[in-house]
Amino acid sequence: MGQLDGKVALVTGAARGIGRAIAEKLASEGADLALCDLQADWLTETAESVQKLGRKALCVAVDVSNWEAVQGAVGEVQKAFARVDILVNNAGITKDTFLARMSVEDWDAVLSVNLKGSFLFTKAVSRPMMKQKSGAIVNIASIIGLIGNAGQCNYAASKAGVIALTKSTAKELASRHIRANAVAPGFIHTKMTDALAEDVKAQMLAAIPLKRMGEPEDVANVVLFLASDASAYMTGQVITVSGGMVM
Ligand code: NAI
Repeated sequence: MGQLDGKVALVTGAARGIGRAIAEKLASEGADLALCDLQADWLTETAESVQKLGRKALCVAVDVSNWEAVQGAVGEVQKAFARVDILVNNAGITKDTFLARMSVEDWDAVLSVNLKGSFLFTKAVSRPMMKQKSGAIVNIASIIGLIGNAGQCNYAASKAGVIALTKSTAKELASRHIRANAVAPGFIHTKMTDALAEDVKAQMLAAIPLKRMGEPEDVANVVLFLASDASAYMTGQVITVSGGMVM
């Protein structure tokens, strides 16, 4: 018996990194998966691992920042599975540079994917979840949304926004038995952090009490907890997964 038997989970940004680990973790506990990313063929490997675990995988191409596309995606998921129990808003991007140099386009791009994208998917699944009178929404924020970071004002603002969105969603939808929580990862080993300069990585490592970068699975384990009934009495919370970097 898995913790998520019979449930349908939708994960955005599921092609790689943390999103892929989340999809695989939820499938390993019995959920069928709607996998969303910019291009459907990017999702092939994630879909194969979900299917190897004996679960269904639907691959959906969607830009999370486009409302029409998001509505279409959630429509496809409902057609295929007739329900949505879990939403994980994971798709995210960075466009780092110092504030004075940051282009307005790079500000807008990061806010559009990270914050608006999470709002659009939450809005789109809220109807089916309200009809079902149940649901769990897990938003992937970041420790940067809690503490800020030089060179990341767009990203920090987007992730702080995701935390506020999570709390407001939690208050608004609690009466319909829909919970919303956030995970704030620290420094996790993915393509996003591979792109950082070696000296930045060394500095980050020095600030982590557990003395290692996190792995995508470290985040996925906490997402599973928040998506499952093990956290039935929790809503509007932010759980930091950072090896103690933020406490
Ligand atoms: P990643 O870059 O490896 O994967 C992100 C995925 O999102 C990719 O598959 C990408 O195609 C997809 N994506 C990007 N824009 C999209 C859009 N407009 N529509 C649909 N899909 C889109 O990143 P990673 O590291 O796996 O990050 C996942 C989430 O975790 C992000 O929200 C990120 O901000 C957050 N995070 C990551 C940390 C890290 O250290 N890697 C730390 C804290 C938070």
